[in-house]
Amino acid sequence: MKKTWWKDSTVYQIYPRSFNDSNGDGIGDINGIIEKLDYLKDLGIDVIWLSPVYKSPNDDNGYDISDYKKIMDEFGTMEDWERLLDEMHQRGLKLIMDLVVNHSSDEHPWFQESRKSKDNPYRDYFIWRPGKDGAEPNNWESCFSGSAWQYDEATGEYYLHLFSKKQPDLNWENPKLREEVYDMMKFWLDKGIDGFRMDVINFISKVPGLPEAHNPSGKTYAWGGDYFMNGPRIHEYMQEMNKEVLSHYDVMTVGEMPGVDTEEAALYTADERDELNMVFQFEHVDLDAGPGGKWDLKPLELKDLKATFTKWQKGLEGKGWNSLYLNNHDQPRMVSRFGNDKEYRVESAKMLATFLHMMQGTPYVYQGEEIGMTNVQFETIEEYQDIETLNMYHEKVIDGGEDPGQVMESIYVKGRDNARTPIQWDDSENAGFTEGTPWLKVNPNYKEINAKQAVEDPVSVYHYYKKLIQLRKENEIIVYGSYDLILEDHPQIYAYTRTLGDEKLVVILNFSGDRPVFEMPEHVAYEAHELLINNYEVDDQEQIQSIELKPYEARVYRLK
Ligand code: NOJ
Repeated sequence: MKKTWWKDSTVYQIYPRSFNDSNGDGIGDINGIIEKLDYLKDLGIDVIWLSPVYKSPNDDNGYDISDYKKIMDEFGTMEDWERLLDEMHQRGLKLIMDLVVNHSSDEHPWFQESRKSKDNPYRDYFIWRPGKDGAEPNNWESCFSGSAWQYDEATGEYYLHLFSKKQPDLNWENPKLREEVYDMMKFWLDKGIDGFRMDVINFISKVPGLPEAHNPSGKTYAWGGDYFMNGPRIHEYMQEMNKEVLSHYDVMTVGEMPGVDTEEAALYTADERDELNMVFQFEHVDLDAGPGGKWDLKPLELKDLKATFTKWQKGLEGKGWNSLYLNNHDQPRMVSRFGNDKEYRVESAKMLATFLHMMQGTPYVYQGEEIGMTNVQFETIEEYQDIETLNMYHEKVIDGGEDPGQVMESIYVKGRDNARTPIQWDDSENAGFTEGTPWLKVNPNYKEINAKQAVEDPVSVYHYYKKLIQLRKENEIIVYGSYDLILEDHPQIYAYTRTLGDEKLVVILNFSGDRPVFEMPEHVAYEAHELLINNYEVDDQEQIQSIELKPYEARVYRLK
C-alpha cells in the first residue's frame, strides 16, 4: 500500500461560527481560530479542515456562497485568513478548505445574472426548467424539506435547489461553469492551501431528463437521489478536476458523498484512477434511522455497526482509503449517540475514540469531540438556528399538525445544532466562547465540560485523544495494518485485530454499560502482550485470555 502524508494524518474539523469569537459579536471568527492554534498543535493533529469561511448570506451557515474568493465579513478579512494559513504552516499544520460547488447562493452574481433572462450568458450556470402542468418540473424533494424547485417570476421558470431555495444547484453540464470552478480552486491552492473537503460532491451530475422520483408512499415530494447521487458523468468530472487542478499540487481531498457504497467509493479513491483520496460515506450514520429517514428514530444495533464498519474496512483495503468519523457539524455528538453522555460520558467518549482511531483510514476529530462535548436540548424551537431543523419542524408541526413534543424529541437526538453549540473553552460566562451574545446558545453543561478543565486533568478525554493521535504517529500498524473483526456475534463487545507483517494488535471495546466477558478467540495466537492504551486502570501483567470488561471499557494490546 502506498504511504502518503494524508494517510498518516489526523484531521481536525473547525466549524468557524462556533469555534472561538475574538471580537465579541457572538460569532466565531478567523482571529479566534488563530488564538487556539497552540491548543490544536498540542493535541497533536496534523490537518485542519475548515468549514466554509467564504462570503455568504448564511442561509445555511456558509454552505451558501455568494463570492468564492472573498472571506465572510463576520469571520474577518483575507489578510486574517492569510495570517491563519501562515501561522498554521509555521506550526507544521496543514489546511484544507471546504469546496461547495454543487450549489452556490442565490445571492452569487452568477445567479443574479442567470435569473434575469433566458438568454443571459449565465443562464446555463444553473438548472432551469419550465413547469409541468402548472406545477414543479418534477417531484424531487429538497434535502431541507419541500420541493427541490423554486419558481422565479422574472422568466417564469423554476430552478433546482437540492438544499434550501437560497442554494441553487450549479449546472456541471456547462463546461464554462466547470472552468470557473477549477479557476477558483487554483486561486486557493496558489495561496498555499493543502487540499479540499468537497461538499456533497457526488450530487453534481444529474441524470439527463431529471426523471420523476419513485414515490411508493404517494407523498407530494419524494427523494430523487437515484437521479443525482453518483450520476452518469460524476467520474468524468472528478477525473477532469484532477487533471486540470489537483494533479498539479501535493494536496489531500475528501469528498462528502451520501449514498456511496464501497464499490463506488473504491472507484472514487483508487490511486490509479486519479480522482479523490477519500470519501465521507454515510452508511454508519444512517443505521439509527427508520424507513421515514433521518428524523424517524430507530435504536442502533451493535451488530449493524459491526457489519457496516467491517464492510468499509475490508471493502477499501488495498483498493482505496477510508475516512474515519463519528460526528461532524451535520451529525449529533458521538458520545450522546453511540455512547452514554451521562454516567459514563468520559469512559464512553474514550472508548469511541479508540474504536475509530484504531481503524485503517484517516481519522477526523470534530471540534469539541476531544473534550467529550454532548448533545443539547433547548426547550423551544425558537432557540434553534439550523435551517434543516426549522424547515422540518415547520413542515411536520405547523403544516402537518404532528405532535410538537415528538418532533422536538427527534431534534434532541438528530438535530444539527447538537454539534454547533459554541465550543466550551472554560467555565466563565458563555463558556469563554464570546464576550457578546452567542449566535446559538451554549450547552448549559459547560461548567463541567470545558477545554480548560480537560487540559488540566491528566485523565481527561482530551489527554486520551493526545495519546491516541501520538500512538498513530509511532505505529505504522495503526495506519496501514489490515483489519479483522473478531467476536462477530457478541451483542455488547466490538473487538478486532490489526495485522501488519508479523505485528498484531487486538482492540477490545465494550459498547455497553454492563460487564460482559471478552474471550480471546482461539485463532488469535500470541505468547506475550503489551498494553498500548486503556480507559480504566489495568494491571499490564493481567492475563487477557478472558477479561471481564467494565462499562464502556476500551483496551488495545500489542500481541507478541
Ligand atoms: C453538506 C454540509 O455538510 C451541510 O452542512 C450543508 O447543509 C449541505 N451539504 C449543503 O451544502
